[in-house]
Amino acid sequence: MKNQKSLNHRRHDEDNLPQSTAYSPKPHKPWNWLRPLEYVMREQRIVFILVGMLLATVFFVWQPDFVSPDHGAYAIASSSAHLRNPIVVYRPSSRHLGSAAALDLKVPLGLNRIPKRVVVTGGAGFVGSHLVDRLIERGDSVIVVDNFFTGRKENVMHHFGNPRFELIRHDVVEPILLEVDQIYHLACPASPVHYKFNPVKTIKTNVVGTLNMLGLAKRVGARFLLTSTSEVYGDPLEHPQREEYWGNVNPIGVRSCYDEGKRTAETLTMDYHRGASVEVRIARIFNTYGPRMCIDDGRVVSNFVAQVRT
Ligand SMILES: NC(=O)c1ccc[n+]([C@@H]2O[C@H](COP(=O)([O-])OP(=O)(O)OC[C@H]3O[C@@H](n4cnc5c(N)ncnc54)[C@H](O)[C@@H]3O)[C@@H](O)[C@H]2O)c1
Repeated sequence: MKNQKSLNHRRHDEDNLPQSTAYSPKPHKPWNWLRPLEYVMREQRIVFILVGMLLATVFFVWQPDFVSPDHGAYAIASSSAHLRNPIVVYRPSSRHLGSAAALDLKVPLGLNRIPKRVVVTGGAGFVGSHLVDRLIERGDSVIVVDNFFTGRKENVMHHFGNPRFELIRHDVVEPILLEVDQIYHLACPASPVHYKFNPVKTIKTNVVGTLNMLGLAKRVGARFLLTSTSEVYGDPLEHPQREEYWGNVNPIGVRSCYDEGKRTAETLTMDYHRGASVEVRIARIFNTYGPRMCIDDGRVVSNFVAQVRT
């Protein structure tokens, strides 16, 4: 009975409540301009604001690249300039001139950049494996596509186990679909010994392989870089060769599979740029040497070193 009584709550019970517990609105205070300031001072907010401003100032003074459109030592030519000439221009910015890093032409290590998904064809080869090292170092996720014709697993083995690295055994003559932001297309035997070994395969790699990778770039909207060669100038009549020089190439010689193959690869690259708006770069590499290069691959520098040693 007692319980039942407590459940039967009636409105007139509230009317009997003492006057002190009834709701009474706060009296309206007149607006005082000093009140926010008093609040800020009382809660020590001003200290936090000043410390924040100080940290931001120190950060932007030390990291001017964050606000500058000119990213570090590599000022890549403006997009309108690229439309005219997509050949990569390494232009050390004046701020970095004189520093050793500015003269050391490497893929820039950007602290303020979003990591990219990158595919490197021929990434197990000499140049490709060094490029992969640099891309991994700057925080990108890298997929190497290589058929190991001249490349070696040992060149990239130190990245095995890294979740940002993948290796695919694949011939670029066959199409492949990968979701990436950038394509570095290096796959092609580069030394005369290797590219003359199977000339038809060499030109197929340069033409069909490049077509496949450009098709991929168009499909997924990736930026594309072709590693071309100074051999596109053939037997040049001009020294040194400027980028505007068109060369003097024998189309039916034993080296033509490589020279003409690369020239066609450049043509395809430019046609995809003009016709399909693919963002492209062409790097004409001259004789390069260094670690992971085979001493007996028949190239000029390795030949020279081999002859010195014998
Ligand atoms: N090293 C130089 O001095 C030099 C000079 C001019 C141009 N290049 C260009 O740079 C690029 C790399 O040259 P490199 O010196 O590192 O040569 P490399 O022979 O060491 O590397 C080429 C890589 O491509 C791979 N490959 C070849 N055909 C392939 C195919 N069909 N499918 C998939 N992978 C294939 C090879 O297995 C190898 O890993 C080449 O495109 C070359 O033409 C190099």
